[in-house]
Amino acid sequence: MSGIRSVTRGIGSYLPEHILTNAALSERIDTSDEWIVQRTGICQRHIAAEGEYTSHLGLVAARRALEDAGMDAQDIDLIILATSTPDQTFPATSATIQAELGITQGAAFDVQAVCSGFVFALTTADAHLRTGAFRRALVIGAETFSRILDWKDRGTCVLFGDGAGAMVLEAIPESEANGAGVLTSHLRTDGRHRHKLYVDGGPSTTGTAGHLRMEGREVFKHAVGMITDVIEDAFAATGESAETIDWFVPHQANRRIIDASAQKLGIAPEKVVVTVDKHGNTSAASIPLALDVAHKDGRLRKGDLVLIEAMGGGFTWGSALLRW
Ligand code: ACO
Repeated sequence: MSGIRSVTRGIGSYLPEHILTNAALSERIDTSDEWIVQRTGICQRHIAAEGEYTSHLGLVAARRALEDAGMDAQDIDLIILATSTPDQTFPATSATIQAELGITQGAAFDVQAVCSGFVFALTTADAHLRTGAFRRALVIGAETFSRILDWKDRGTCVLFGDGAGAMVLEAIPESEANGAGVLTSHLRTDGRHRHKLYVDGGPSTTGTAGHLRMEGREVFKHAVGMITDVIEDAFAATGESAETIDWFVPHQANRRIIDASAQKLGIAPEKVVVTVDKHGNTSAASIPLALDVAHKDGRLRKGDLVLIEAMGGGFTWGSALLRW
């Protein structure tokens, strides 16, 4: 395993065209822009069009990441898609994306760790690349959470949005990486909390897709502690710290969770990349979407040290440090 580094070669994202503002939502349900912004920092979210599926979102993000990397789809031999909203129960939505990209070599599979999905997928891709079994991976987070929301439940439907982000990772000899690549990652799950954030359906239970259910206060109570624990693990493993990182790109669930985590860790507010105001919580897509925003607006530069983290249903949580 040693001697190989997974380095970032490209990043891309896609948001569906339709924007649903808080004002538009408050015409449908008993809520207000003020309540949503104050509690979550969310102002708007994107919603997939009828007939626009998770694979469509992921495919566009993947194509944009390949373009950013200057690579052809045929350069890819591993696709890992993080999603909790697959097109179908099976085959994996990554298989659909693989076929649409015209790739027939290598492997494609989905991982399911809800909002932590991208950190889990990145860690899985990094582990596979470092075995030498694969050369170049597309790591995608793509979600259509609008399809599993109960639009009558104001406690949950205001929080989420649809979108996708993708990253191209390449395995290269560590001696050629100049310190770049995935430096460390840390994954955790504690299934005792599985009833606090879940979907009340599934193929083996109800035979339906179900709707998202959440004990919001319980999630909030655990989030900051879990997030900061796993980030401290990343700092301990690498000797890096809140001072040495250039960018903190957290899962975009809620502005209050992001701010409280950054504050507890001593991360300066200007290092925190925030997109939750415009995207809402796009679950596994939120981190690559935020990375792409910071890449496109010029904040994220080659050589920067980037800390990512997420926490979600399960509970699952995880962190990773990357040298861009
Ligand atoms: N608009 C107006 N009022 C609302 C809304 C809404 N959209 N939703 C709930 N309320 C009302 C409730 O009915 C309640 O009214 P009551 O006092 O008359 O009963 C009141 O607001 C307070 O409700 P709470 O649920 O206690 O509100 P809270 O302050 O906890 O905020 C929230 C709710 C925003 C969901 C918060 O708990 C939270 O942010 N939790 C974290 C959840 C999260 O981010 N989940 C994302 C998935 S997990 C992840 O990605 C980490």
